[in-house]
Amino acid sequence: MIKTAFNSVHAHVILYPRLSIFITVLLFIQLLVLFISRVPPVSLPIRPSTQTPAAPSECGSGRVYVYELPTMFNEDLVGSCDDLDPWHWQCGVASNGGYGRSAAEYAGTVPESLLPAWYRTNQFSSEIIYHNRMLNYKCRTMEAESATAFYIPFYAGLAVGKYLFSNHTAEERDWHCEMLLKWVHEQPYWKRSNGSDHFIVLGRITWDFRRLTDPEKLWGSSFLNMPLMQNVTRLTIERAPGDYYDVGVPYPIGFHPHSDNDVSQWQSFVRTRNRTSLYSFVGASRGDTKNDFRGFLLSHCRNESDTCRVVDCAVTQCSNGSSAILEAQLASEFCLQPRGDSFTRRSVFDCMVAGSVPVFFWKRTAYDQYEWFLPVEPESYSVFIDYSDVLNGTSIWGVLGGYSKEEVRRMRERVIDCIPRIVYAKPSAGLENIRDAFDIAVDGVLRRFKERRQIADENGLQL
Ligand SMILES: *[C@@H]1O[C@H](CO)[C@@H](O)[C@H](O)[C@H]1NC(C)=O
Ligand SMILES: *[C@@H]1O[C@H](CO)[C@@H](O)[C@H](O)[C@H]1NC(C)=O
Ligand SMILES: *[C@@H]1O[C@H](CO)[C@@H](O)[C@H](O)[C@H]1NC(C)=O
Ligand SMILES: *[C@@H]1O[C@H](CO)[C@@H](O)[C@H](O)[C@H]1NC(C)=O
Ligand SMILES: *[C@@H]1O[C@H](CO)[C@@H](O)[C@H](O)[C@H]1NC(C)=O
Ligand SMILES: *[C@@H]1O[C@H](CO)[C@@H](O)[C@H](O)[C@H]1NC(C)=O
Ligand SMILES: *[C@@H]1O[C@H](CO)[C@@H](O)[C@H](O)[C@H]1NC(C)=O
Repeated sequence: MIKTAFNSVHAHVILYPRLSIFITVLLFIQLLVLFISRVPPVSLPIRPSTQTPAAPSECGSGRVYVYELPTMFNEDLVGSCDDLDPWHWQCGVASNGGYGRSAAEYAGTVPESLLPAWYRTNQFSSEIIYHNRMLNYKCRTMEAESATAFYIPFYAGLAVGKYLFSNHTAEERDWHCEMLLKWVHEQPYWKRSNGSDHFIVLGRITWDFRRLTDPEKLWGSSFLNMPLMQNVTRLTIERAPGDYYDVGVPYPIGFHPHSDNDVSQWQSFVRTRNRTSLYSFVGASRGDTKNDFRGFLLSHCRNESDTCRVVDCAVTQCSNGSSAILEAQLASEFCLQPRGDSFTRRSVFDCMVAGSVPVFFWKRTAYDQYEWFLPVEPESYSVFIDYSDVLNGTSIWGVLGGYSKEEVRRMRERVIDCIPRIVYAKPSAGLENIRDAFDIAVDGVLRRFKERRQIADENGLQL
């Protein structure tokens, strides 16, 4: 099966060289994830709302109605981890409500009182995390009539994930999506708006849902190419720049604070680290890709071992919950963030949560992705060095070493300010006073829908 997958990837490579890089890499990562995340069978701990509804003033942008979908569109897709299918990467996705197992291996790396807030979270688990949080969301309504936004809890990433690495037909890969749209299309509130006040969470990057039309292009589903999806808002870990309906949200990472106090305690912890390296690089090179920038950074970092701390994921098992990554990032002023398999990379969020200042080489890695979550001025919290300048001889060491202690401190403060905004809190009702990534994302959707509705009403238009 692996061979078949690679064959189909190979066909892709020829036709779509850029896509191919990212697919090869994805394959690699998913293999890693899978070998690492063998966990016991899971059951979804999704509970009905036990929250007392929020006072109207707390939900100024409106409320969310959550569709009750047939379980074939969510719970049934989670799968069972008894399955010996090596491609069953979604095992790690589903355990513990999407948060993953406890990361006991961080004992000694993080303060003891915060250890319970660290998990081995799979980067593709946001569909489950959002669903769980949404059911307990303070601005959820059970009355569709009064809703500003309609949430469709379809696990589209899990639905297509099953088919990504084997030779399945386009029909098979689109089947769940087709059925879902058939179902949702029949709902009265869908008919009212054609889906433009509906939203969904995609646990994978947007490109996994935009299959090209050529039958040779075997990657992904064509969910987002389906006409009915045209005006549905999607919260995704990597958006297509220029597509208004794609909203970038942070990748889930391992830190899930249980309280406001967890957040502030962690912020002081990372603020007072002794950062003994100027910068760090975590990643693996792609030996099979020509001019691989990550390979270049790896080699660069090894050559600069006085200033750069390297975690080579080809040697260290980066996704098995080893504490090597977190330790490297806690000990470095900056962290290098080249593009990953696609433009974005979960490591950006790992790095920022560790209080390390991210260094980008492509603008698309963060600046036009996560506008609701990161500061508007990129230079306030990050450094940008164009990758082509680096290849042409610009010294990373020279650029980063050029910042004064005070300048670095100021950038780090901005990074530390971001921490609550880029993590997903553990309590299903959210934190006490702090707004986390979930709150910001859902509130942003509500505000958008409310504004659009107002504009439409003022102009006598349909939504
Ligand atoms: C996938 O399966 C189809 C039909 O079973 C076959 O024609 C095609 O060659 C296979 N593709 C690959 C890449 O193995
Ligand atoms: C929804 O789409 C259908 C077909 O495209 C159109 O006839 C109808 O007017 C649309 N309704 C709204 C509310 O936009
Ligand atoms: C989506 O919105 C655009 C602009 O409002 C509209 O022209 C189009 O018909 C809508 N698509 C669907 C499927 O309703
Ligand atoms: C940081 O280093 C200084 C001097 O080497 C030391 O006194 C201090 O305890 C260290 N702090 C931490 C948190 O390790
Ligand atoms: C690292 O050093 C080796 C040996 O001196 C050299 O061949 C290589 O080009 C250097 N790598 C980078 C990225 O400068
Ligand atoms: C992860 O892998 C590394 C090296 O392969 C190993 O040393 C470490 O013990 C593993 N950690 C866990 C938590 O499995
Ligand atoms: C890098 O160098 C090449 C060849 O020397 C040149 O063509 C290219 O414009 C340079 N790129 C940048 C961004 O300076």
